[in-house]
Amino acid sequence: MYVCVCRGVTDHQIRAAAAEGASSVDELRDRLGVASRCGKCSSLAADVLHESLCEQPPEPALYYAAG
Ligand code: FES
Repeated sequence: MYVCVCRGVTDHQIRAAAAEGASSVDELRDRLGVASRCGKCSSLAADVLHESLCEQPPEPALYYAAG
């Protein structure tokens, strides 16, 4: 679905940006242009970003052999 109509940004693009390290609406604005015109999308963009950050799998743990 379109999150930002002004810039034509979808939830898929926001999820992809989150997977690549975006962690704030400001970063989404820099990367995708979200909320850079009318700003009405910033709340929904933040919700989609938060949702996708919560869904990401945790970093793999590093284990070292004791020896
Ligand atoms: S809908 Fe995103 S800036 Fe207008």
